[in-house]
Amino acid sequence: MAKFPVEPFRIKVVEPIRQTSRAKREEILEQAGYNVFAVRAEDIYIDLLTDSGTAAMSDNQWAGVMLGDESYAGCRNFFSLEEAIKSITGFEYFVPTHQGRAAENILFSCTVEPGKSVPSNMHFDTTQANVLARGGDPVNLLAEVGLDPTSHAPFKGDIDLARLEAFIEQVGPENIPLGMLTVTNNAGGGQPVSMGNIRATGELLHKYDIPFFLDACRYAENAYFIKLRDPAYADTPVLEIAREMFSYADGCTMSAKKDALVNIGGFLALNDEGLFKRVRQELIIREGFPTYGGLAGRDLEAIARGLWEGLDERYLAYRLAHTKYLADRLLEGDIPILEPPGGHAVYIDVKRLLPHIPQSELPGQSLACEMYLEGGVRAVEIGSVAFAREDPETGEMVYPDLELVRMAIPRRVYTQAHLDYVAETCQRIYEKRDQLRGMRFTYAPKLLRHFTGRFEPV
Ligand code: F0G
Repeated sequence: MAKFPVEPFRIKVVEPIRQTSRAKREEILEQAGYNVFAVRAEDIYIDLLTDSGTAAMSDNQWAGVMLGDESYAGCRNFFSLEEAIKSITGFEYFVPTHQGRAAENILFSCTVEPGKSVPSNMHFDTTQANVLARGGDPVNLLAEVGLDPTSHAPFKGDIDLARLEAFIEQVGPENIPLGMLTVTNNAGGGQPVSMGNIRATGELLHKYDIPFFLDACRYAENAYFIKLRDPAYADTPVLEIAREMFSYADGCTMSAKKDALVNIGGFLALNDEGLFKRVRQELIIREGFPTYGGLAGRDLEAIARGLWEGLDERYLAYRLAHTKYLADRLLEGDIPILEPPGGHAVYIDVKRLLPHIPQSELPGQSLACEMYLEGGVRAVEIGSVAFAREDPETGEMVYPDLELVRMAIPRRVYTQAHLDYVAETCQRIYEKRDQLRGMRFTYAPKLLRHFTGRFEPV
């Protein structure tokens, strides 16, 4: 039997959740166009849609909220945040943003022109969409092993360095305004990137004078994976590991809604002063004055405190073990998942679970719907709905290699009994998996189709 990690906190505030009947959920899901994004949160029992902005803040963070200084310019919370960001990342400059994608939008608006490419291990959907929205080409160069959902390799988020170099040679460094690494690789299963790969990516990009940015949403979980899996770092404090990760990059985009344990917020940090001045200009147009960037002073304080809490080693040990607990429960029931489990989520390998439904019939969407119908559990499709793209030349649909349904675990929110309930729901679906049928779009938006698409069963 899987072992549950003991929480390094106790619960001071609770929020009621309620269960509905299957008949009620059938009605709700039909009205929602078979898209769980369109279901009201109060009609969900266990919400594993995302780990983004769903953390339970600590008493220390809430105390910080009360110390919010809501001055338009120069609020004191900006300086607490500056201290945390500079101390952890070492980057010279930063701007707060209202969330991660705002940081991406601003970074790409200052760097990406039509026809330019942005290579990465694997872009997350908003990052991919933000590059595309500038007329750029988001390129994923994940190492082969990262696409094998059964491999137990320790760092399946690594970029393929040989392909990265070949790509730079092929398109020319002048057509690559920046390169990125997503740590951990969310779209590829929350898999960590090794320190060696981060260092080598920085060296390779710099050899061609290409700036290197980290998409750092889950940098603390990545750092703890390095501690757990790379013997050279077994005794290194996680703060030092994080600092070393950032030291190889020229900047980062950050969604504070993940490893900074807040409900809203993000930032863009960087070393290049010229680029910073352009970024600051864009920020003022889109987000706000540089000392608040689309957030309230209280939010800045919660991020500053959350950044430190997110690096606490007792918290991180619990966090990764908590996710692994759910993974182990599913594996005990023979449910195919992407292995080893990522830091923030467990991903069901839909190709292996539902081999009878072709990718054109959106098997992941079908599974996400069944999880809601069976148990009121909300998960998210990360497969053909989210990532299939029409080839601009042939007009044919190109389907992603991985067909996944992600159960993301909010930080410090759910208990062992909640995770057991999720595992039992999945088990019941597993027993009747042959009965699941495919889905088709009744409405498909051009970008980010999983958020607002509508569907019907085939
Ligand atoms: N990069 C990665 C790797 C992400 O996972 C996300 C968000 C973003 C950027 C954008 O940040 O939401 O603050 O604008 N991921 C969430 C998720 C939405 O559910 O995985 P944001």
